[in-house]
Amino acid sequence: MAENNNILVIGANGQLGTELTLALVNTYGKDHVITTDIREPTEKISLFEALDVLNQEHLKQIIQAYQISEVYLLAALLSARGEQNPMLTWQVNMDGLIHVLELAREGYIKKVFWPSSIAIFGASTPKKDTPQETITSPDTMYGITKLAGERLCAYYAKKYHIDVRSLRFPGLVGYNALPGGGTTDFAVDIYHKALEGKKYHCFLQENTQLPFMYMPDAVKATMQLMQSQNHQVTVRSSYNITGFSCTPAAIAEAIRKIIPGFEITYEPDFRQQIADSWPDSIDDQMARKDWGWQPAFNLESMTQDMLMNLSRLHKKEIIIDIV
Ligand code: SER
Repeated sequence: MAENNNILVIGANGQLGTELTLALVNTYGKDHVITTDIREPTEKISLFEALDVLNQEHLKQIIQAYQISEVYLLAALLSARGEQNPMLTWQVNMDGLIHVLELAREGYIKKVFWPSSIAIFGASTPKKDTPQETITSPDTMYGITKLAGERLCAYYAKKYHIDVRSLRFPGLVGYNALPGGGTTDFAVDIYHKALEGKKYHCFLQENTQLPFMYMPDAVKATMQLMQSQNHQVTVRSSYNITGFSCTPAAIAEAIRKIIPGFEITYEPDFRQQIADSWPDSIDDQMARKDWGWQPAFNLESMTQDMLMNLSRLHKKEIIIDIV
């Protein structure tokens, strides 16, 4: 990467940020990736600056000081935590995005990645194979900010020719970092409990079907979208994207093929209503057609990889006994 062409990751300590930063550092070199978050990271893998995304002046200083051309804006409050503090969710999710888009409009940066979510859909959206263009009627503040954000991205792309790219992520599952405050977090927590030999108390009903994606696929999709030619990116709001769909019971079943004694109980709370308003499955043919999207992992291969990596990280032995 040439000078004046550095990358800024905002919200780099989060679930996606941790993994995406690793991939960006591996691809472009650690001298070209600057990470920021409101909290100090436990481990610094490239240059770090503490940043509150609501402080636009500080954001601009960092962009100028480090000669940033590309921004990955990942700082956000997710769906469940968002319902505990809707006004803060609006502020962080919307002001953060408009600050970045405005800096792009003023010519400080050239390219932006911003994640949207299946939370833009709602109870009246078709649930099965939810299409790219359909009814969007979010019921959470998180979903409302993601839908408004999508429209802002499309607006800045059309009106000011800003190169902004986005994916509507489903629930993300990974072993390197824990999610925080999402409705799909159970799909990560469940693996940790299984590995500790404990029973998992799931906050959703056993038959709640949701779309998911394993983290290596989420990182691959982001890198692939950002490396695509400008003309390939025909969707400037946000692309539907998915790995596979499953229920909590199916995840438990997949775990039991490796850890046969694993137990789960179902004790739905307020997050059930949020999950019930989201799609069962996603039609991501636009991403497939435009820039060749193809996921590598399904529930079974994700489960094997998750448990193997978690047991390695936590130095716990499990006997992988695939039935
Ligand atoms: N994983 C997110 C959440 O559960 C959805 O984008 O809030």
